[in-house]
Parts: sequence; C-alpha cells; structure tokens
Amino acid sequence: MDADERLRLAVDRVSAALRETVEELQVTENELRAALGFLGEVGQAGQFPLLADVLGVSVAVDEVTYDARQPGTASSVEGPFYRPGAPVRTQICRDDEPGDVCFVSGRVTDATTGAPLPGALLDVWQAGAGGKYEHEDPEQPDYNLRGRLYSDDGGTYELRTVVPPPYEIPQGPVNRLLARIGRNRFRPAHFHVKLSCEGYEPRTTQLFLEGGAHLDDDTIGAVKPELTGRLEKHDDPEQLSRGGLDRPFFTYVYDFALVPAAPREGAGDGS
Ligand SMILES: [Fe+2]
Repeated sequence: MDADERLRLAVDRVSAALRETVEELQVTENELRAALGFLGEVGQAGQFPLLADVLGVSVAVDEVTYDARQPGTASSVEGPFYRPGAPVRTQICRDDEPGDVCFVSGRVTDATTGAPLPGALLDVWQAGAGGKYEHEDPEQPDYNLRGRLYSDDGGTYELRTVVPPPYEIPQGPVNRLLARIGRNRFRPAHFHVKLSCEGYEPRTTQLFLEGGAHLDDDTIGAVKPELTGRLEKHDDPEQLSRGGLDRPFFTYVYDFALVPAAPREGAGDGS
C-alpha cells in the first residue's frame, strides 16, 4: 500500500471516529467551535507533539514501531523536549546544581552476544529540580542537564547529574484541557536517553525511578517496568570525602543492550 493510500485510510478512520463521537454525545455547534478554537491554540503554542503524547498516540506509535519481544533495551517515546547538539561531557549539570547529586552508570552490550560495546553514544537529557527543561527555564544555562557521552573500551559509561523530579507538563492549552477533565498532568521522574552505536539499531528510551510518584498514572503512559531502576543513597562520610562531596549522593545503575542493525538491501553485492 503506498503512502497516499495509507493516508486515505487514516483520514477515513479518523473521520469515522469523530462522526461517531459527535453522534453519540450529540455535540453542539458551540462545542465544535470550542474544539476548533482549542486546536488553534495548541498550534499557536507549538504543543501538537505534547497533545499527541497525552492522547496516547505517541506511545501507540512507539509500540507498533518497536516489537516488545525484540531483544535489547526497550524503547520509549522521545517526547517534545529533545535538543540535538548537546555538549560531549560526563557531567551534564552545574557543580552546584539544585537537587541531589546522582551518578548514573552501567554497560552497553550487544543484545545478541552480550559483548560489550565500546564507543556507543549516549545522548541524555532530563528536567531540573524545579521540574523544567533548560530551554523553558531562564534560571538554567543553555544545554544544562543535557549531554552526550561515549561508552569506554569495556562498554561502560558513567555520568554525573542530579536526581530528576516528577514534573507537570508545561502550562498552556494541553495542560488546561487535562485539568478541566480531571486528568493527571504529571510525569514520573525520568532520564531520557538516545543510544547509538555503529552497526547497531539506534534506540530512544526513558529510564524511570523505582517507587517514584506517578509511575502508575504517567500522563503520557510511557512507563515500562523493564525501564525502571533503583536509586541507591550513599551517605557514608568516608565515601563522601573520597568523592569530594559534602552531601549525600545517589547512584543509579542501568545496563543497555543494542540490537545489530539489519543488513541494508543491496549491501554486500558489490554494486
Ligand atoms: Fe521528559
């Protein structure tokens, strides 16, 4: 089926679902005008990606894109707050970043053989302690809490950051809609990670914190149990002084596995 045919089918399906809703709820002209006004506001606010997230569309597309039975780290949606071009560094925040210091570490391996993958690129981003990403928070410097780093020869990585908080989705028409219908507007705390390595399928995912708030009612429904890891608190004075820290810190360990890329059609035939 070509792209135009798929588009025609999608438009037919969506039209039918909308007509069915109008008939079932006996939608009035005023309500239709309000709905169209809402969509206009969403466009003006640049919140269509956020709307797709809270309607569950982004997670549904992620589910049909990545087979859950496939080996390797599970995927999760990218969300609307990724910025390319983050600095290459292993500390992605300020020394005095508000929040609890957190060292995130682990290994990147081949999902089929278990072999370590050196040189895998981890592109990481997260919200600050106040629940905002840097681009929406004038208090944070450019690219704060964003960074790219590579796994070492043994496939291991470690970065310094702060423990992310659960956060409310940004203010605007989408937030107001959820508030009006009494739906949760918060996301559970998470790190975003885009993983890539030459010869392997890239993977975009999110890592959640065991026992955290809103794991069960994530407003975009993106939590997967296998993407949930445990925060360990460290407050032994000797350990703190060894790490040059004057306050307790946390560690979070997560191992990633990538699936070898499928050979491209036509590759290897000498043409
Ligand atoms: Fe996020």
